[in-house]
Amino acid sequence: MAASSGSDNVSEGSWPKWAIALAIGAPVAVGVAGAIYYTRKKSKVSERKDPDGKPSETKASDPAPEQTQPVLSLAEQAQAHKNKGNKYFKGGKYDSAIQCYTEAIAICPDDNAKDLSTFFQNRAAAHEQLKNYSEVIEDCTVALELNKQYTKALFRRAKAYEKIGEKMKCLEDVTATCILEGFQNQNSMLLADKVLKDMGKEKAKKKYETRVPTMPSKQFIKSYFSSFSQDITCQPLETVKESKEDTEQESDSDKEEATEGDEDKDKDESEEITKSGYVKAKQSFDKGEYEDIINECTKEIEGDGKYAAHALLMRATFYMLEGQATLGRPDLDKLIDMEDADKKLRVNALIKRGSMHMQQGNSTDALSDFATAVRLDPENSDIYHHRGQLNVLLDRVDEALRDFEKCVSINPTFALAQAQHCYAMYRSAFAQRSPMQLQAAMNAFEKVIKDFPECSEGFALFAQALNDQQQYDKADEMFLTAVKLEPENPTTYVHRGLLMLQWKQDVDAAVTLMKKALEIDNKCDFAYETLGTIEVQRGNLEHAIQLFERAIDLARTEMEMAHLYSLLDAAIAQSRVAATYNIRPPMQ
Ligand SMILES: *[C@@H]1O[C@H](CO)[C@@H](O)[C@H](O)[C@H]1NC(C)=O
Ligand SMILES: *[C@@H]1O[C@H](CO)[C@@H](O)[C@H](O)[C@H]1NC(C)=O
Repeated sequence: MAASSGSDNVSEGSWPKWAIALAIGAPVAVGVAGAIYYTRKKSKVSERKDPDGKPSETKASDPAPEQTQPVLSLAEQAQAHKNKGNKYFKGGKYDSAIQCYTEAIAICPDDNAKDLSTFFQNRAAAHEQLKNYSEVIEDCTVALELNKQYTKALFRRAKAYEKIGEKMKCLEDVTATCILEGFQNQNSMLLADKVLKDMGKEKAKKKYETRVPTMPSKQFIKSYFSSFSQDITCQPLETVKESKEDTEQESDSDKEEATEGDEDKDKDESEEITKSGYVKAKQSFDKGEYEDIINECTKEIEGDGKYAAHALLMRATFYMLEGQATLGRPDLDKLIDMEDADKKLRVNALIKRGSMHMQQGNSTDALSDFATAVRLDPENSDIYHHRGQLNVLLDRVDEALRDFEKCVSINPTFALAQAQHCYAMYRSAFAQRSPMQLQAAMNAFEKVIKDFPECSEGFALFAQALNDQQQYDKADEMFLTAVKLEPENPTTYVHRGLLMLQWKQDVDAAVTLMKKALEIDNKCDFAYETLGTIEVQRGNLEHAIQLFERAIDLARTEMEMAHLYSLLDAAIAQSRVAATYNIRPPMQ
């Protein structure tokens, strides 16, 4: 949502974050003790009859005379049944295959755990073909009791759990599979990714409905508003029109449009202004007191005051900031449809609704709102700035680059956009593996920090690009300057912590920086998330789970929540797998 919320700007590889978190723990020390059990489920045991029709249990304690005879041993006979079963299986005759595997199971000696587990696993495969998932799960469970680290059976059971909607059980099995395979198997990785995403979406949807509105920190709100250069909310109320003319380089026709007919209104309503809800909201906003803003805006809207359109925009914005996008949405819709409202307000509403669509995963609707905004006010740099960020998120690097180019050509003094333009140049150069363009991006960064020595974002984004390029010394220098310029911005500390990890593998320094970020802003979800990921890697799963839960409570959008739930569930699953299979990530 916000330009500077941090996570929006982080470049991500093709691996999902949870997998990176888990893969650091691999290769793992797998406990050998207790791996093989000689017990079998009673129900299966009673199925198994020897050729005399006697239960096999009596046989086990009573060495059978026929085993010593030079005919096929029972184990060999069982293998023969299995091979026949495999032939049926390959021919698509699953019922017959199941019969053969059942016979193999029946005659196989009890202490031949390895063979038995294979027969159960094969029978599960045949049941899977018939879509009989509860049988798949039963057979895989027996196979796993016989051979605890049987990844084939684990993965098959994971797939069956997924089919019957047992997502958490699926996740535990597939997590164990991934760890045992050392994250080398694409199929199990894909299933883990899918089930984590499904669970995350489902839980976020539920949680979001009952989310407790939380006002973000002042710093966050400040950063959010600074990502708009033409937001009327931030401009002095009495001089709305003048400041627009001063700062926005509008075309002449726009100026006329904005001034015409407003003068007489001002005279009529100058006394009324003092009791207006919006004026009060605006005064609170300027003082950095946000708690009453929504109420005051509601008064303005319900009284149909002069600033009703302003109030709609401000109320929607604060609903969004509090994480109540569903309440903000109707205000934006209404404002966008108000054809006689100031177009700066309507364009701002379109940008915010576009971001809302993006957060709900609908990029088509998002881009459509941005296109409408461009038609309404083609020279409004905010549109290109925010669409550029959206294109970065969508990995449409070239479109992003064009948007930032347009933005800075309209508004060359907008330092934040200049810095993001450089970052887009950097990303594009990186995607095209072009050393020349890479150098051009780095040079552009140097120019931005020289031209805008007060813009901490410029230093912070340059630092991220340098970190990516493994120019750690210089990256650190840039982060330190960013911290000096804006000591109250927690995300810089988090990014610097990530640098410490990558540069020096210094976990303690990283953790200290993340904690510093939380000292500054105890509502910084990015810090909780990143710290949680570090705790997963350190094997402190309980603490990681607490941190992810805290981040979920603070997340402002359903999409962020879904992502955090994926991290949380991955940590929970890993914690259970660690207990069940005695698999522990190495401590750092
Ligand atoms: C397995 O599936 C087949 C075909 O769908 C069905 O006819 C059969 O009853 C199922 N078997 C069990 C044990 O559920
Ligand atoms: C986006 O929303 C529109 C309706 O506004 C819908 O028709 C479309 O299917 C949605 N797209 C996605 C990817 O959800």
